[in-house]
Amino acid sequence: MYKASEEKEFYKDSKHFLNNQPIASSYDRLIEILTYHEWRYAVKNDPVISDFEYDKLFDALKEIENNNPLLIRPDSPTQRIASDLNPDFPSVKHLTSMLSLGNSYNAEDLIDFDKSIKKLIKEEKDIIYNVEPKFDGGSIALVYENDFLIKAATRGNGVEGEDITPNAKSLKSVPLKAAFSKYGITKAELRGEAIIPLKIFKKVNKERETEGLKIFANPRNAATGGLRTKDANETSNRGIEIFMFQLSYAEDNDGNNVLSSFINHSDHLELLSDIGFKVPIDGQLVANNIDEVVKFVSKFESKRDSLDYEIDGMVVKVNDLKVQDRVGSTQHHPRWAIAYKFKAKQATTTLLDVEYQIGKVGSVTPVAKVEPVFLAGVTISSISLHNEDFIKQKDLRIGDKVLVERAGDVIPYIVKSLADLRTGDEKRIQFPKYCPRDHGDKSKLIQYADEAAWRCPICQFGRDNIQKIIFHVSKAAMDIDGFGKSNVERFYELGWVNDISDIYNLDYEKIMALDGFGEKSALKIQAAVEKAKSNSLQKFLSSLSIHHLGKKASKLIAQEINHVYDLQSWTIEDFTNIKDIGPVVAENVKAWFEFPGNLEMLQRLEERGVNLKQTEEDIPKQIREDAPLSGKSILFTGSLQNLNRKEAQEIAEMNGAKNISGVSKKLDILVVGEKAGSKLTKAQALGTVKIMTEQEFIDLLKLDV
Ligand code: IVH
Repeated sequence: MYKASEEKEFYKDSKHFLNNQPIASSYDRLIEILTYHEWRYAVKNDPVISDFEYDKLFDALKEIENNNPLLIRPDSPTQRIASDLNPDFPSVKHLTSMLSLGNSYNAEDLIDFDKSIKKLIKEEKDIIYNVEPKFDGGSIALVYENDFLIKAATRGNGVEGEDITPNAKSLKSVPLKAAFSKYGITKAELRGEAIIPLKIFKKVNKERETEGLKIFANPRNAATGGLRTKDANETSNRGIEIFMFQLSYAEDNDGNNVLSSFINHSDHLELLSDIGFKVPIDGQLVANNIDEVVKFVSKFESKRDSLDYEIDGMVVKVNDLKVQDRVGSTQHHPRWAIAYKFKAKQATTTLLDVEYQIGKVGSVTPVAKVEPVFLAGVTISSISLHNEDFIKQKDLRIGDKVLVERAGDVIPYIVKSLADLRTGDEKRIQFPKYCPRDHGDKSKLIQYADEAAWRCPICQFGRDNIQKIIFHVSKAAMDIDGFGKSNVERFYELGWVNDISDIYNLDYEKIMALDGFGEKSALKIQAAVEKAKSNSLQKFLSSLSIHHLGKKASKLIAQEINHVYDLQSWTIEDFTNIKDIGPVVAENVKAWFEFPGNLEMLQRLEERGVNLKQTEEDIPKQIREDAPLSGKSILFTGSLQNLNRKEAQEIAEMNGAKNISGVSKKLDILVVGEKAGSKLTKAQALGTVKIMTEQEFIDLLKLDV
């Protein structure tokens, strides 16, 4: 979406702006900058600035707009009503909008907030507040009907979210049944936050590292991403827990709203806790007035690091539900609640040295070795410096005192060097000209025009790149079960694997004889390697560690070719003619195929039985010519007797149909099971929908059930 050079400029300008240095045409630029950071945060799940910094930029934009309302552009982030919804998940409308919170940063802000409420209700008496932690994770909404969990959704754009019911059901902190009926509630919607305890987060990242998968930048990204995986097992494996903090909708048997038949927000929390939900306990307090709130939030801030999960502040809510109703909400946030944001976590330490690590695609990453410093619960001794430009921009020198921050993030970064404290003995950092792995004079580092990273051409294209082999066997690539990083490293040391083709040429007799191996474990690896040989072409392409060629682009390319070798003659245009493939991917793949060593490796792979041809799995389902439901939209309703719903939808899709979620003119086929209700009536009324029974569906596709 963005060029690396643009990203660099956005980052630079953000920091300029935050440091009060002027940037050109601030209003337009601010919109571009914020739009970029929103994309990094919400689409890429990989923010480059802290929430605190984002808020500051956002507030600056809002201020410009408040002063010049005629200036407001419709694409300003302040005007955002819709956000990026992932089309892979069906969308679901929330029963009540999921608003966000206004922010406060100090005691004065909180006192102003208190005053504004008193003014709105025209009363002077003390307001009672419920204070609770502001969890730093991903929002989730749950709907229960007749005590059963029927729906779970992400926040999405606040009005509609993504239906993640199967994923939520995999989480043990989400009760599948909860006794709302005990309180006369038939239908309820509640809100909460998905978080990952720090201990578990570290474990998950360690495992991912072993498997050669990309590690998560912080628990929040791992949690929000985890809610939206396509595999509910993956959601549950990430150790996600859900804290519920709001009962947002409650209806009795007659359809009456009974939310405010309770007196206080804290009663809602007690109710939720009573029927099995995890609610905030540490850091929850009913405060009798704003002064108590101010004291409590600052006291709790010092306890922040002793918690086993990340919080980025506290939420202060008017406790009395009637008062909440009276003050109401703006379009964006309730007037009865405010977030109190904690300060970023910072410490100073000394920069001792810089080491250089070589990544999967040959990029050389500088890593600062610092005097170990205890910061927000962990001791930090290594900090990534990203690339040479980062070092230059920050003018970092060996021996410098540096300011280190962990702003809600687990990964620390160097904010700046404290130049005033320099003694004159500091040394400038010399970025290496040659690869730190000594390949002789061939290893001069190169830099692509639009990239900040320096790369070693041998590590990038050559035969000795162990990281590529680790990636190749990992779950994210060829998924060779039980192989893993440690075996790759071991076989590499032994000289048994030099590139990925050697994975398919191992001598299992020799492996059996290794320390720590037995017949069983060696045969297990052998079976997994054999299995991987028939992987789809898209999997194979994405396992090659070609720079920028990820799963999606591999899939698109695999649809277009019969054999990997076809790509040898492809031009840049052949690639970019495919929708969603850009010139960067095109150039990288083309360059890869121009390197003779790679073609030789492909030949060895083929000789060793690895599939390099298009498979059934690579052919897009909807264009398979013989598909009986080709091009049709389909919907299943009622309870099916022979197939489960998900199975039926998958079968329909495999036969060319597109599953849609509602009855409209766009619907071609409605398959009705028992007790079909309003969907059937609606389809009959439309008259354009073909209605078939489950048996007719089974017969049509000649299914064997
Ligand atoms: S109350 C209408 N309480 O913060 C009230 N939100 O900026 C809306 N959050 O998306 C939220 N902890 O996911 C509330 N104790 C808490 C919270 C909390 C975390 C998140 C929430 C929301 C965001 C609001």
